[in-house]
Amino acid sequence: MSSSQTKRPLSSAKTGPISGDIRVPGDKSISHRSLMFGGLAIGTTKVTGLLEGEDVLATADAMRKLGATVTRDEDGTWHVTGVGVGALREPDSVIDMGNAGTGIRLMAGIVATHPITTFFTGDASLCKRPMGRVADPLSKFGAQFITRDQGRPPMAVIGTDEAKPVTYTLPMASAQVKSAVMLAGLNTTGTTTVIEPKPSRDHTERMLRHFGVDVDVKVNDDGGRTVSLTGPVEMKAADIVVPTDPSSAAFPMVAALINPDSHVTIRDVCLNPLRTGLITTLIEMGGDITITNEREEAGETIGDLVVTGKNRLKGIVVPAERAPSMIDEYPVLAVAAAYAEGETRMCDLEELRVKESDRLAAVAAGLEANGVIHRIEGDDLIVTGGVVPGGGMVETHLDHRIAMSFLVLGLGAEKPVAVDDANPIATSFPNFEKLMGEMGAKFALHS
Ligand code: S3P
Repeated sequence: MSSSQTKRPLSSAKTGPISGDIRVPGDKSISHRSLMFGGLAIGTTKVTGLLEGEDVLATADAMRKLGATVTRDEDGTWHVTGVGVGALREPDSVIDMGNAGTGIRLMAGIVATHPITTFFTGDASLCKRPMGRVADPLSKFGAQFITRDQGRPPMAVIGTDEAKPVTYTLPMASAQVKSAVMLAGLNTTGTTTVIEPKPSRDHTERMLRHFGVDVDVKVNDDGGRTVSLTGPVEMKAADIVVPTDPSSAAFPMVAALINPDSHVTIRDVCLNPLRTGLITTLIEMGGDITITNEREEAGETIGDLVVTGKNRLKGIVVPAERAPSMIDEYPVLAVAAAYAEGETRMCDLEELRVKESDRLAAVAAGLEANGVIHRIEGDDLIVTGGVVPGGGMVETHLDHRIAMSFLVLGLGAEKPVAVDDANPIATSFPNFEKLMGEMGAKFALHS
């Protein structure tokens, strides 16, 4: 999304029960990876169910600029013909990754061990986000980075053709950093190892295996993981069926839970155990969520979620260890907590400060504007639930999940809740308003 685009304020109002049988868009993490890995593989990868949001379309363009052929059929099937690991060509113009942190960080890993120079930029949100977390480990392979102050994009990556393998212990739980290092390892002679103290989403490990790469994963005594691969590798094209995104399913799920008598079925959701922290948490809060039709597809677990609003939610303590498995879901969990009986404490949310916005600050400001009792203690957010007054205007700071979360807040509030800009929603959930509207959610343009 262009940050110069005119803002589109939108409001939501109390709707009563919502109901429907829906499919949310494809998983964003898996969609990015399917295009990147398809572009590195030999042969043509067919991708169905791809998220056609702005973030992922930016990755498609990036892979084209690096030499892959990426096309879309009218029915929404994508084809990616790869160039082979080591054979990416130098892009002749700047790559704009839009709003996508996953896009820019994983791409940085890929180009770091190709002998090419790549320039990346992004929107106003991405150009505030720290790239030092990938530049530090990728420099150890021999790549060089030029960024703005404090490691922020625009960023130039001067890749190396004499990459040295790296063993890296992650200083924070981040699948993006883990993936960037593993992807740099693909075109590096020798074994690249990442040690993660807390397990983060493992789509890279699973999908690399699906493309024929031998990825070794060990569970460490402290519960963390050691992931390694030996390069250079050859990747073979492999078709991908993208499951729907649990981080997008989170919005209709919470909307159903906070509106009594709601009944919603959400189909084909990615149920990778490292992504299901929100489901675990909402069930602990008393939410009525049933998983049905569980199965495996392209290395990922998939199932349907049936959610009703029959139980009133109760406040709980959400442990710090769970954070990586629901890192993108805290804004909408704070909304669920605003309707729950008692206090919900969400522990150790430091990483939320470096997402598409400072999400801890943005959530607190949105709750404040709508009369929800809350406080921040260190990196913990504590929300006291009850009747939600609403009536506030929320600043979204180019953050899709802040926009959607507060529109869900309005669906049960006494007075409508407005967000200053609904445009960012297109990065991950382009049909959010339509799909939610069809289930009964009341949205209106806000003047
Ligand atoms: C992602 C990892 C997470 C998540 C992001 C997608 C990924 O970021 O917030 O939306 O696809 O690897 P971090 O790795 O920074 O936690």
